[in-house]
Amino acid sequence: MFAKNTYINRRNQLKKDVASGIILFPGNKDVAFNYPANTFTFRQDSNFLYFFGLNHADLAGIIDIDNNKDYIFGNDVDMDDIIWMGNLPTIKEQAAEVGVENTAPLTSMYDFITDAIKAGRKIHFTSPYRGEIQMQLADLLGIKYTNVKNYTSVELIKAVIKQRSIKSLEEVAEIEKAIATAYDMHTTAMKMAKPGIYEREIAGKMEGIALSAGGPVSFPVILSINGQTLHNHYHGNLLSEGRMMVADAGCETELNYCSDITRTVPVGGKFNQRQKDVYEIVLKANMKAIEAIKPGVPYREIHLLSARVIADGLKEIGLMKGNMEEAVSKGAHAMFFPHGLGHMLGLDVHDMEGLGENFVGYDDEIKRSSQFGTAFLRLGKRLQQGYVLTVEPGIYFIPALIDQWKAENKFTEFINYDKAETFKDFGGIRIEDDVLVTADSYKVLGKPIPKTVAEIEDTMK
Ligand code: GLY
Ligand code: MN
Ligand code: MN
Repeated sequence: MFAKNTYINRRNQLKKDVASGIILFPGNKDVAFNYPANTFTFRQDSNFLYFFGLNHADLAGIIDIDNNKDYIFGNDVDMDDIIWMGNLPTIKEQAAEVGVENTAPLTSMYDFITDAIKAGRKIHFTSPYRGEIQMQLADLLGIKYTNVKNYTSVELIKAVIKQRSIKSLEEVAEIEKAIATAYDMHTTAMKMAKPGIYEREIAGKMEGIALSAGGPVSFPVILSINGQTLHNHYHGNLLSEGRMMVADAGCETELNYCSDITRTVPVGGKFNQRQKDVYEIVLKANMKAIEAIKPGVPYREIHLLSARVIADGLKEIGLMKGNMEEAVSKGAHAMFFPHGLGHMLGLDVHDMEGLGENFVGYDDEIKRSSQFGTAFLRLGKRLQQGYVLTVEPGIYFIPALIDQWKAENKFTEFINYDKAETFKDFGGIRIEDDVLVTADSYKVLGKPIPKTVAEIEDTMK
């Protein structure tokens, strides 16, 4: 974990930003996979990690703003735990590592919270995303399970997002470590992408590289020759010449900071002309978007800039037609690019999404669009120095979507459906990088992962 002052400073800032009351951060619990003792890999809650740093199950952190006291609630290991799972420092010792002086057994948290409620004090907590935590909160607060989300603290959510959005140098260094591992994952995948190999062989290798570097993957590996399905987790296809392979994958570091990288390569290592034509458009959209990144610019404008590059490129190769400014403003490009340009990245791969996407990506000035395509943009608001975000444009040929829009005669003035028909066997292309917003521009994080046609062909040789 980071030095204890990092956690002390973060909690002190939170005490300034949330006026009064008690802040409760329940840590995560082990979750059963197929029977109670066989659990999923433990993943600590990211807010708990950010403010309390400890990476074990069954802990809770409390910040008593009014009395300026921080607490860790948790139980010391007993002999059974030691025999089966190994020894751990005491809760007191663990808490000291993150600058917390006050500790108590987990069950005493119930009295603590009950007393605070009786005294009329506000209990701030964020929206739970796991059933176990929602039940724990219902128990602690004496409210119905289904009511818990109605009591979440918007004041706390906004204060947490304000801090977590701006990455410190030590956080950026962690993200770059995660990208270093992603470099190995992606260059290995490129070299393996030969006809006759199954997707699962490559996806498994990528996940193994993440695990052997010390962290899990930051989300289940997306790897497919059917890249037109945006989050395709099916890995049973055999690679064949003429297909593009989308690999969207990243990992977590030991401190749980994430990478999220996508590369798309031609099976066998050589782009054919049609693949190259589409690839160059996505690459241009990725690079033009990155070049536009600087503080003060709304990310939605950059999303629309990349949409425009895509529309112009599709017009050049005959898939779109007419006035592309109008086409993008009306959303016609979204048949080919039906998702957002990117999202924040940090302790979560979609950073802080559990706190509410609109709180993270939008604000009073910039509200989420309702237009198909742009509506799926997770980050629309103005950029600030210290944001780390993804830039991930794509072009996809989704047969069912082409059929539907064509049947509805949708945007016939902008889309050349006859030509689109001939691309139904193409799949999709996405290119994704992780970028830091600097004082006056941007920095693409990590060692560059092969991205141009020449770099990819060279790597796959
Ligand atoms: N990993 C999914 C995404 O790129 O957002
Ligand atoms: Mn991704
Ligand atoms: Mn992403």
